[in-house]
Amino acid sequence: MATMRAVRIHEYGGPEVLRYEKVPRPRRNRGELLVRVRACGVNPVDWKVRAGMTRSWLALELPLTLGWDLAGTVEDVGCDANGFAEGDEVFAYTGVRNPGVYSEYAALDADIAARKPTSLDHAHAAAVPLAGLTAWQALFDHAGLQEGQTVLIHAAAGGVGHFAVQLARWKGARVIGTGSAHNEGFVRAIGADQFVDYPNQRFEDVARDVDAVFDTVGGETRERSWGVLKRGGFLVSICGRPTDEEAAAHGVRAKGFLVKPDARELYDLAALIDDGYVRVEVSSAYPLAEAGRAHAESETGHVRGKIALMV
Ligand SMILES: NC(=O)c1ccc[n+]([C@@H]2O[C@H](COP(=O)([O-])OP(=O)(O)OC[C@H]3O[C@@H](n4cnc5c(N)ncnc54)[C@H](OP(=O)(O)O)[C@@H]3O)[C@@H](O)[C@H]2O)c1
Repeated sequence: MATMRAVRIHEYGGPEVLRYEKVPRPRRNRGELLVRVRACGVNPVDWKVRAGMTRSWLALELPLTLGWDLAGTVEDVGCDANGFAEGDEVFAYTGVRNPGVYSEYAALDADIAARKPTSLDHAHAAAVPLAGLTAWQALFDHAGLQEGQTVLIHAAAGGVGHFAVQLARWKGARVIGTGSAHNEGFVRAIGADQFVDYPNQRFEDVARDVDAVFDTVGGETRERSWGVLKRGGFLVSICGRPTDEEAAAHGVRAKGFLVKPDARELYDLAALIDDGYVRVEVSSAYPLAEAGRAHAESETGHVRGKIALMV
C-alpha cells in the first residue's frame, strides 16, 4: 500500500500529542482530486480540535489528521471531477467535518477547490481559504455590507481580520479596526480608516452608530459591541451564536455562523488577490513536521496574519 507522512493525533491534548507519522496515502473517488499538498494554512480551529475543545459540536474519530486549508498540485483527477487537469495548482478549504490535510497528499471534492492565485506561492495561497472565506461570508453573505457603510472589525490584524479589512475596503466601506498598538501601522496599511488600540482604548469611544460589527473575539468584546451599532445594524459573529432575542433587545440583527467551503467565492478571492486588492500576510512558516511549534504560536492569540506549514 502506498504511504505518506501526515500529522495526526491519537488522543486530545497539548502540542505534544501531534505525531508526524506514516499513514496510508488517500485514494481519490469519483468527483475528487488527489492533490500533492505543498503547504497547509494553520487556523485556531486546528489546535482547538487537537485540544478537544470542539468535541461538543464536532464529532471526529481518532486517530485524526488535523488541518483543513491547503495549496498544492493536482496529481490525479477522478471522473466527474470537471474543470481540473493533472498539474493544476489549486487551493481549498476542505471543511472541518472532512479528513484533515496536514499531509503529503489529500483527496478532496473537486467542487470545493479553485485554481490558486497565480501571484502567490503555495505558503501564501494555503493561508487564504478558511480565513478568506470566513471574512467574505461574514461581510457579504451574512451582514450584506454595502459601499458607504461603516464596519467595526475586531482583531483586524489576525488571520480573518486582515482579510476582512481589505474586503470591506474593496467594497467601499469605512473600516474601523481593533488591535494592539504594534499592529496599528499594518492595519492602516491594509485599509483601515481608524484604528483602536484595544488594550488601551475603548472601541465604544471611537465606533458609534456603525452599520455592522464583525465579532471575531466573542465574550465581553461582543457584549460591548451591541451598543456601537445603529438601529437596524448587523452584528456578525464567528465566536458563538448570538440569539435573535439578544439582537432584538438591542434593536439590531445578528448572526453567528460556521464558515463553509465555497469554490466560487475562492475564485473571487483569487481574482482580488491577483488584481492587487487583497494582500496575504504570512508572519511565519514551519516545516510540517514542526506543526507543534506552529500551534504553540497560534495559541498565543497574537499572530499577525497567518501561519503556514510547508510540506
Ligand atoms: N465560526 C467560524 O467559521 C470561524 C472561522 C474562522 C475563525 N473562527 C474563530 O475566530 C477567531 C479568530 O480567528 P483568526 O483566525 O482571525 O485568529 P487569529 O489569527 O489567531 O487572531 C489573532 C489576532 O487576534 C487579535 N486579538 C486577540 N485578542 C483580541 C481582542 N480582545 N480584541 C481585538 N483583537 C484581539 C490579535 O491582535 P493583537 O496581537 O494586535 O492583540 C491577533 O492579531 C478564533 O477564535 C477562531 O477559532 C471561527
